[in-house]
Amino acid sequence: MNVQIGCARTEDVASIFALLEKSGLPQEGLSDHIRTTLVARSDEKIIGCVAIELYGSAALLRSVAVDKAWRGQGLGQQLTQAALDLAQEHKVKTVYLLTETANEFFARFGFRSISRSEVVPDVKRSVEFTTVCPERATVMGIEIISPQKGASRV
Ligand SMILES: CC(C)(COP(=O)(O)OP(=O)(O)OC[C@H]1O[C@@H](n2cnc3c(N)ncnc32)[C@H](O)[C@@H]1OP(=O)(O)O)[C@@H](O)C(=O)NCCC(=O)NCCS
Repeated sequence: MNVQIGCARTEDVASIFALLEKSGLPQEGLSDHIRTTLVARSDEKIIGCVAIELYGSAALLRSVAVDKAWRGQGLGQQLTQAALDLAQEHKVKTVYLLTETANEFFARFGFRSISRSEVVPDVKRSVEFTTVCPERATVMGIEIISPQKGASRV
């Protein structure tokens, strides 16, 4: 498949929002983090996305979505790994996420379920935590150790 993963451009926002809507994921707050949003393109069409929100040495991974027609081909995992690599480039130590449906998908990367009280305050003040994700959403976290060692559990 001829798919490229790279940085989102400002003009991609409408396509990303459409993909998030179709995937049942929130759009709120994402436009403040377009510089750390990645997209998968096939012939210039956006078929996947993922974003990290940076909060110093912590980050929130969000908006992992793949167009239905492209699912099951490894793209979701490639996007997630690319976002973790991006977090590492920004010297992030801990990455958090909220999910209602995809715990097992993220567990493949070493994310583990944690309680909200374990999340650093800056991340807890994010739009996802305060506004769009319900209390029942699972909170997960992973500690990134070093490029050599990869990521390990919190
Ligand atoms: C989750 C999602 C991004 C996966 O994308 P994808 O390109 O199909 O993923 P991949 O092809 O890399 O991986 C597929 C594997 O993940 C598993 N998987 C996919 N969605 C899953 C989910 N919600 N929970 C657990 N496992 C899941 C598949 O069963 C498959 O397993 P296999 O390798 O053993 O066959 C995609 O299904 C999607 O966009 N879902 C809607 C949005 C969403 O729920 N995002 C995650 C929460 S932010």
